[in-house]
Amino acid sequence: MKMYRQFKQFWIRFFIIVWEVVKSMKSIRGLISLFISYMIFQGWAFLFILFGNAWMKGIGAAVITFWFGPGTPTIPIILIVALFIQRYILLDFSNQFHLKEKWIELNQRFGDIKTESKGVIPMLFETFELKNIKLKNRVVMPPMCMYSADTEGFANDFHIGHYAARAIGGVGLIIQEATAIDKDGRISINDLGIWSDEHIPGLKRIVDAIHQHGSVAGIQINHAGRKAKVENPIGPSAVTYGGEYIVPKEMTIEDIKKVVSDFKSAARRAHEAGYDFLELHAAHGYLLFQFLSPISNHRKDMYKDGKILLREVVEAVRSEWPKEKALGIRISAYEYVKEGVTPEMMADAILSVKDLGVDIIDVSSGGNILVKINAFPGYQLHLAKKIKDLTGLPVMGGGLITTLELAHYAVSSNQADLVYLGRVLLRDPYLIINQAQDFHAEIEYPKPYIRGKK
Ligand SMILES: Cc1cc2nc3c(=O)[nH]c(=O)nc-3n(C[C@H](O)[C@H](O)[C@H](O)COP(=O)(O)O)c2cc1C
Repeated sequence: MKMYRQFKQFWIRFFIIVWEVVKSMKSIRGLISLFISYMIFQGWAFLFILFGNAWMKGIGAAVITFWFGPGTPTIPIILIVALFIQRYILLDFSNQFHLKEKWIELNQRFGDIKTESKGVIPMLFETFELKNIKLKNRVVMPPMCMYSADTEGFANDFHIGHYAARAIGGVGLIIQEATAIDKDGRISINDLGIWSDEHIPGLKRIVDAIHQHGSVAGIQINHAGRKAKVENPIGPSAVTYGGEYIVPKEMTIEDIKKVVSDFKSAARRAHEAGYDFLELHAAHGYLLFQFLSPISNHRKDMYKDGKILLREVVEAVRSEWPKEKALGIRISAYEYVKEGVTPEMMADAILSVKDLGVDIIDVSSGGNILVKINAFPGYQLHLAKKIKDLTGLPVMGGGLITTLELAHYAVSSNQADLVYLGRVLLRDPYLIINQAQDFHAEIEYPKPYIRGKK
């Protein structure tokens, strides 16, 4: 009985994947390739049956019988040849089918033959490895500005206590708030800074506090561009965000070069401070995103394609950030207005830098135009899933997730590899260790607090 079920499920998966590959070829050149490949292997037999003499009809019928009978498992050959024609003869690289991810997703959907989950440990509490980091669970504290540094961007005791508390509370990966690569690129005058070597000792204290309590330490580096709270903000074009923000100065090539070099120096300092993970802020309408969005980038020079700046920044950052350390990018995958970016456009931007050593995408949305977003628990998860499918990279997803049940659902349904819990961790740093008991997860409870355990 079990064998029959496995046999049946294998074939269901097989035909779903065949159908998905066919669907992935929906461009004109993709369909032409499919047609050519089909004609080579099978289509001619139908023509023989329809138009041939008795011999030809016989041969045609035999071939068709073969394909629909014992030859069925070889159908992928038709698809492989079609994909080859699409890519290397018709030069259409639009096809982004990811066989491995699809197979894992189907395994999870059917939940039988072999799932990604390693057994009794709930997936949310499984470890996750990325380059040289190993997370003890799948929960991330996303970057959240605390507006608590002094006006020179130096860390203080508040930052140590704030990040240490979340590490004690069991968060797998803590990504420190947007930290400014340039004094004139700050979101507020109380942002943490990483624009000078003098910031390194304070940042190192934060890293040590996070490490001491068993979490992995990440940092998000940022330039706020036209959303910087300074007298003379810069941006890709002289287009304001609106509200209280003033019109920025359109950046010159020198300004752009300086930003690239500031990102590079910030990456060096982040490494020297001891962070395990580096995240580039290309979301929420800050500078890198401003270049990627048609809403804020009206340039006429080569930087009208925002991917060019992104590539220059990733290249520069990678030259300082060791290749064995994980690098991520936070993106807004959707702007909720038709003039803005779509997940497909953002996936395209990611694919243009993937080869430089980008390891994970942190998926968020909005922030570049004043628009009302209908936010509900998990409202951005579908975007994370889309980016995961289109880029083949692991993703962090989230948005209004306030319980571990929903967080667990997000990872176990394969919508995200890691899940971020933002505001709820501001309210309750100990959410994970307290709710983990509902999952019967064997997690390390902070020793000094054991007598308070429920
Ligand atoms: C106080 C606060 C500060 C934030 N600062 C940042 C930031 O520095 N960088 C960033 O990428 N997102 C920032 N965000 C967005 C969060 O990282 C997160 O994506 C958002 O709050 C949605 O998750 P949540 O619904 O779980 O809070 C901030 C959010 C809050 C509430």
